[in-house]
Amino acid sequence: MVSANDVKQVLVVGAGTMGHGIAEVFAIAGYNVFLADVNRQILDSAMDKIRWSLSKLAEKGQLKESVDSVMSRITAVISVNPDGSFSNDLAAVASQADMMIEAITEKLDAKQALFRFVDQHRKGKIIMATNTSSLPITEIASATSSPELVVGMHFFNPPPLMPLIEIIKGERTSDDVVQSVVDLAKRIGKQPVVVNKDVPGFIVNRILARFLNTACWLVAKGRASVLEVDSTVRFSLGFPMGAFELADYSGIDVFYLIAVAMTQRGFKQTPCPLFEQMYKANTLGMKTGKGFYEYPKPGAYVRP
Ligand code: 3HC
Repeated sequence: MVSANDVKQVLVVGAGTMGHGIAEVFAIAGYNVFLADVNRQILDSAMDKIRWSLSKLAEKGQLKESVDSVMSRITAVISVNPDGSFSNDLAAVASQADMMIEAITEKLDAKQALFRFVDQHRKGKIIMATNTSSLPITEIASATSSPELVVGMHFFNPPPLMPLIEIIKGERTSDDVVQSVVDLAKRIGKQPVVVNKDVPGFIVNRILARFLNTACWLVAKGRASVLEVDSTVRFSLGFPMGAFELADYSGIDVFYLIAVAMTQRGFKQTPCPLFEQMYKANTLGMKTGKGFYEYPKPGAYVRP
């Protein structure tokens, strides 16, 4: 039995948009967190963003302790060597962690390689969770010797503010592991929803994929402008962000790769070409400074 009570140290691999937010959420809840990524620059930027977010929460009286004391529970770790192989530092923290949450790029082979590595170095029966947006938990778990320990724990951007976590059961995930992750989600102040069918996109991204694709086709076919679509979504449908604002915010790359993964697995839709063009041109939204809108300071949170 892997119990939520046993979890004290959490390894988050991937310090990008989702990973650093997930690390922050666990640190706020009192867990010691190892935050791993491929280089120092990414880790420094992630730590800066966590500090910014914590300061925002502190300003609003939503943090029970100082920003520094939450930050002191997060340790940055470089996960790969210059030749691309996983580092000894990653092996060391994998062998100390009570739980791993993977939040790296949305590519199956990269995720499987990481799970294989952590599986080889883990200290025993730990929870191995993936924050995948669309890839099957069962396929990721197949890279490990213990697929019953592998589960989906899907956070939403920005993790410190979004209450939902989808908890996805792969074909071989044990009920104990699902229950422990439900308990953990509640301990970090989130609302868990268990998704029993490991279908592409789970629940939220199955809906969101169609929503973004429809918005994109309206623009691609010249039937409405980006601003017109976003105005209707925000001011009539009542969403907090327009469709394109959201795509820029979470990353064009993220939604493009979700659409590819889902389409490859039988999700029926004709992908709007604009996402692919922008992905290939590296115009990925807020993080690169240009997406459907332009951002003066790439990476900084500024609404268009
Ligand atoms: N941490 C702390 N504070 C933050 C923050 C963060 N990460 N992000 C924004 N804030 C702050 C802002 O700075 C602002 O502070 P201020 O009041 O001092 O100016 C405050 O929160 C409110 O922000 P805004 O005024 O810019 O705007 P909103 O009230 O609209 O809130 C939002 C921002 C919570 C991001 C809201 O727009 C929202 O909920 N957007 C939709 C997000 C969403 O749908 N996420 C899911 C995406 S899908 C996904 O993640 C799945 C994956 O698989 C792709």
